[in-house]
Amino acid sequence: MQYRRMPIEIESPEEMGYSTIKYNLAESSVRDITLEHIDIDFKKLVLFYGEHKGIVKLRKAICEGSKVLGIDDVLVTTGAAKALFIVATTLLSASDHLVVIRPNYGTNLETPRAINCPMTIVELSFEDGFEIDVDAVAKAIQPNTKLISITNPHNPSGKLYSQATINALIALAEKQGCHFLVDETYRDLNFQTELLPYEAEKSKHVISVSSVSKSFGAPGIRMGWVICRDQKLMHALLAAKEQIALCNSVVDEEIAWYLLSHKQQFIAPNHAHIRSNFAYLKQWFAAQPFLEWVEPQAGVVCFPRVKTEYKVDTEQLYSALYHEYATIVGPGHWFEKEKNYMRIGFGYPLQQELIGGLGNLQACLQRFAVKIQ
Ligand SMILES: Cc1ncc(COP(=O)(O)O)c(C=O)c1O
Repeated sequence: MQYRRMPIEIESPEEMGYSTIKYNLAESSVRDITLEHIDIDFKKLVLFYGEHKGIVKLRKAICEGSKVLGIDDVLVTTGAAKALFIVATTLLSASDHLVVIRPNYGTNLETPRAINCPMTIVELSFEDGFEIDVDAVAKAIQPNTKLISITNPHNPSGKLYSQATINALIALAEKQGCHFLVDETYRDLNFQTELLPYEAEKSKHVISVSSVSKSFGAPGIRMGWVICRDQKLMHALLAAKEQIALCNSVVDEEIAWYLLSHKQQFIAPNHAHIRSNFAYLKQWFAAQPFLEWVEPQAGVVCFPRVKTEYKVDTEQLYSALYHEYATIVGPGHWFEKEKNYMRIGFGYPLQQELIGGLGNLQACLQRFAVKIQ
């Protein structure tokens, strides 16, 4: 294994120090909640080893509402991060091949790299609205391709892929006899559309991954899960989990169960907040001259770029934004893109913070963006 720290982690708000940031537009989640919202009597909780797959009531809550999925199709993990790690390390090796879209959440590229798995990257482009080119994915598949990997809703663009695109990718995975990973970590942040079933319902080849981090504002309990109907794979993933940590924290599992069994109570106000911030963001984009964007459809992030008629010294831009204005966004290199791209998170900030942060961004662009003649 060749582990490397990724810029998105080194420069994350928690590593920079929350106290140094007043306008945090770098987060990809809603605001973090506090324990006072969780009505559980922890004094009675037995601190035993939890069931290795995850406590039953939590796995039931995860597949609640599904006519297809059962608790044996669910493995609870330490955040979506660990789910992605064990999926990559279980399925891939130096003699296998991966097809992965980019930009993407860093782990989906970096863990395969850490195990030296050859990969073909299918680039998404701003010009094509970050749409996935299914033909390009088909062409990228090789005899030893074991995994096709996407994120939906997409991080960092907020693009929501159509069922036609997803179904076409599932058909490719089935034809190849490989797995299809759909990182659905933002699925409950579909603030404009109805919530669709997990993609893993559709085929045994599909692996869905999600967590309570982004939509419930609970990344600190590190609770995520893998869903897949391929029991052979689920057995191997359980073996991986057992070798890393046996089981999860039973305290965290209780909290995750509480959140999922009171889902509407938590999600409805979050969606209302996101819709209100999104309305402001749209107005702001329409009024400012420097950035262009592909309007996001779901999630709490978008991935605009500086318009091509401007040249900007991005080192100065991001440095001034942070040091002089206490404001941060996610620069393009977090996603292996040029720094004239930036991820802006609009779910985490209170509305006044969003207004202030975007105002600061505009002030910095005014200072550092030069119109090309
Ligand atoms: C697409 C995506 N997948 C997974 C994760 C990891 O989330 P978790 O906190 O559940 O580990 C993130 C976090 O930013 C993400 O954006």
